[in-house]
Amino acid sequence: MAESFFIAPDVTDKKEKYEALLPQLFALLEGENDLIANMANAVAALHQGMNFFWTGFYRVDGEELVLGPFQGPVACTRIKKGKGVCGASWEKKQTIIVDDVDQFPGHIACSSDSRSEIVIPFFIGDDVVLILDVDSDKLNCFDETDQYFLEKIANHFSKFIQH
Ligand code: SME
Repeated sequence: MAESFFIAPDVTDKKEKYEALLPQLFALLEGENDLIANMANAVAALHQGMNFFWTGFYRVDGEELVLGPFQGPVACTRIKKGKGVCGASWEKKQTIIVDDVDQFPGHIACSSDSRSEIVIPFFIGDDVVLILDVDSDKLNCFDETDQYFLEKIANHFSKFIQH
């Protein structure tokens, strides 16, 4: 049964917020193997817990990414491999942090309010199967702390993802 997430209001440090959030998220995912349900709860928990501007999944479908569960303003439905930050992360098979989206060649602006972004690929073996995209309406929002904890979530998800 889903419960509301609790992060003490006096916790403002990003690392401490993630440290409070991840065990609650992993407990929520425990015992549920439905990928869409787990993607939906993961983005809701991250979005609410970390106060992101946009938090969502794209899933790999052939040569395109297709929008999955998300929280925030409506977004682009399909992104081709290599295009935008999401397509670049998929192609390079690595997390990409963008401090200023206006400085990223080919950035796809789903919302003009988005200022910085982090994109994390989720794998089965060597294949990227999902992309987690997180946007902020502030510049320079994301760093190696976000990368560390969001990649932990990606690793955790490998047990729900099937070909
Ligand atoms: N900015 C992304 C597109 C997805 S939206 O931000 C939700 C990109 O450049 O791939």
